[in-house]
Amino acid sequence: MTSSEKNRNHRLSASLLIKGGHLIDPAVRIDAPMDVLLKHGRVAEVAVPGKIKGGADEKFDARGLVVAPGFIDLHVHLREPGQAYKETIATGTAAAAAGGFTTVCTMPNTAPVVDSVEWIEWLREPERGAVVNVFSIAAATRASKGAILSDFRALQAAGAIAVTDDGKPILDDGIMREALVLGGELNFPVVQHAEDTRMTENCSMHAGARSFRLGLRGMTAAAEASIVERDVQLATQIPNARLHVAHLSTADALKSVRRGKRAKARVTFEVTPHHFTLTDEDMRDYDSNFKMNPPLRSASDREAILVALADGSVDAIATDHAPHAAHEKEMEFERAAFGITGLETALALALSRLHREKRIPLTRVVELFTAGPARCFDLRGRGSLARDAIADVTIFDPKKKWTFEARQSLSKSRNTPFDGWQMTGKVIATIVGGKIVYPG
Ligand code: DOR
Ligand code: ZN
Repeated sequence: MTSSEKNRNHRLSASLLIKGGHLIDPAVRIDAPMDVLLKHGRVAEVAVPGKIKGGADEKFDARGLVVAPGFIDLHVHLREPGQAYKETIATGTAAAAAGGFTTVCTMPNTAPVVDSVEWIEWLREPERGAVVNVFSIAAATRASKGAILSDFRALQAAGAIAVTDDGKPILDDGIMREALVLGGELNFPVVQHAEDTRMTENCSMHAGARSFRLGLRGMTAAAEASIVERDVQLATQIPNARLHVAHLSTADALKSVRRGKRAKARVTFEVTPHHFTLTDEDMRDYDSNFKMNPPLRSASDREAILVALADGSVDAIATDHAPHAAHEKEMEFERAAFGITGLETALALALSRLHREKRIPLTRVVELFTAGPARCFDLRGRGSLARDAIADVTIFDPKKKWTFEARQSLSKSRNTPFDGWQMTGKVIATIVGGKIVYPG
């Protein structure tokens, strides 16, 4: 049997024994050789090699591989409803599975905006063809116009796990306050795209020497930092408020978040692989695959983020996977859409930049993809492989070399700055609810 034939058999099994791998489960501080038995969609047993008795329907040989809780991505744009030409739930979750993600949280800046119970339910229908778990983040304000709060209570009851107007900030102080007050009462995180858009109009990259040379209007770090500072202050004042800062990219914003955490405010934040890998100086001349929002920042911003990834301040790595069609990217830089894909390259970039270059322990890197994001949005039963946890597992080879080819991506879109990059570290299998969904 070839390995892909074997894997296909695994997909049908009710119990699966993952044997001979090295388990990294930061939530329960395991970093050791362990076998893992999955049964009926749950973790049935975790034990030192060879100790699990009784048969399993199938076995997975994980020798030489890392076995981790299924990765969770708090920030993806799956583009449904309404923009299926960029991505669908089916294609986006296939790319997620290839990247080792067993759970993704999908953003509401679709057409129409997901601000109602009906759309949350629609997104969950089996017809959407999701191959990994999809949780909805609903719009924080009606049609994400920033004026009137959406019905948090109903959206939460329908299964939304947080609210946001991502793509845009909640700019108005009073509305942001209301959102955090209501979110606090409901234990519902408010996710902020931190950008003072009054300061970034017509800007297409980070404001610095590079934007000056290229003749492009630049977004200042202050446009991010000022919103984060305001939000952290609100979250510090409002009882139980839960603030989650999306794709934090600047050293100054980091200072505010650190202050909030020290003051015991319920503030969490994510950073993206592109912001810890690239800087504004890496942008090839007017290549719109380097255009995203927030933009690639200065070397000192990136350094501050790397320090925060190492010291435990960052809660999660999230991709901000933002697929766009070729016709939305192939045009003058200033007119091109913001956003890059990211699901299939996240792990390899984290292993290279964080683990091998910065010596951040593998357990910490795994935490940023698992227990960290699970805590941000209270995803119970996920982010760990403790007994009885949901049987979502990511198995990867931290040393395997491969080349990322955008044209082979499972995403519908190709807008990535990492096309042709030599990568080290590859997902070997992705297991959702006990079933192998990648390789497909
Ligand atoms: O680059 C981005 N793309 N940033 C956002 O905030 C939105 C996203 C998108 O939806 O394309
Ligand atoms: Zn955003």
